[in-house]
Amino acid sequence: MRFRELWDEIAPVGRDAGSGGYLRYALTAPELRLREWFRAQADLRGMPVSEDGNGNLFARWGDPPGDARDGDAGRVGAAAGTGAVLTGSHFDSVPHGGAYDGPLGVVSAFLAVDELRATGADPVRPVVVAAFVEEEGARFGVPCLGSRLLTGEIDPDRAAGLRDAAGVGFAEALGARPAGADPALADRFAAFVELHVEQGRALVDAGAPVGVASAIWPHGRWRFELRGEGNHAGTTRMADRRDPMLTYAFTVLAANKEARLRGAHATVGRVAVEPNATNAVPSRVTCWLDARAAAPETLRELVEAVHAKVAERARRDGTELTVTPESATPLVAFDAGLTGRLAELLAAPVLPTGAGHDAGVLAARLPTAMLFVRNPTGVSHSPAESATDDDCAAGVVALARVLEELACR
Ligand code: GLV
Ligand code: MN
Ligand code: MN
Repeated sequence: MRFRELWDEIAPVGRDAGSGGYLRYALTAPELRLREWFRAQADLRGMPVSEDGNGNLFARWGDPPGDARDGDAGRVGAAAGTGAVLTGSHFDSVPHGGAYDGPLGVVSAFLAVDELRATGADPVRPVVVAAFVEEEGARFGVPCLGSRLLTGEIDPDRAAGLRDAAGVGFAEALGARPAGADPALADRFAAFVELHVEQGRALVDAGAPVGVASAIWPHGRWRFELRGEGNHAGTTRMADRRDPMLTYAFTVLAANKEARLRGAHATVGRVAVEPNATNAVPSRVTCWLDARAAAPETLRELVEAVHAKVAERARRDGTELTVTPESATPLVAFDAGLTGRLAELLAAPVLPTGAGHDAGVLAARLPTAMLFVRNPTGVSHSPAESATDDDCAAGVVALARVLEELACR
């Protein structure tokens, strides 16, 4: 197993020396280097690579059926029943994120192909390794942007107009207007299996290196824009202030309280203050609420409750509030037949997750499953995210068994 060798090739790319975390934003230099690495790995294995016009990369192992051409990996399996088995994940990270969230699924996919080839396996259906663009939404705000475009879940014009913090548009970063949905997706691909580092401690508790996902909690992002009056910190009487920072502080506490009351999750992890000066009452504070719950009704009630409480607080603070939904992901129940089959094949525990994934988006179009690899810290979206080499190797073996089951029989 060459896990460490391959892992060490990408480990330095985009790593911040200070935090030890990764800054691999979609279509920026480090992520572009990883995409080059993807092409090189595919070349080494004789796997033709294609892009889908949305920024997603595909590398194919195995002959396409019918008259599909080489180098046209996204077009494999046009005939019903001969669709390719898709696997892979993403390269992009959250700010100062961990090494494993995303890249583990891509590296493991190439290594699983190697494992299968070493046993002389011959795919009846092609295996296609994918790297999806902008899964985290850390650059353009909408998570799973590449898979949403591919499945038609987001309008290409809306995606083209999304801007990063420096004002660069997605279309500009991509070099073209995104192509949008692939109407033949469900014919081209028979199934998608994404391997991912676990983002909790369920597998530690279960004493298992690998698990199978059952469901993804519904979740979304809401932008809270709080406007007040910028003024002097030394001369403005307390009673005369219209300070959006107070409304912001209340928002953080209200989100926490309302989530706890419902057994849900709410996080305010990003904030922008204008003018962001020590000696000025801010004129505007923008913050982002990330909210998740096991049931869609709970999520709706949670966000409505936070919104209502912050609106009431804004009245008292003399500030103005605008709430804009930025993204929404419904409850995803992974294909029960496929999930049960893989859990039995691998004798692995089945667990739900509160994290979003491209697999959650593709699940609306294809039979989809996920494998999780144990994370000893349980921490994710942080440099402390981890997985042992032995568990990563177990993940590759599990993925190879799954691909053998789905593509070689
Ligand atoms: C992606 O990792 C998310 O759940 O936000
Ligand atoms: Mn993530
Ligand atoms: Mn991920």
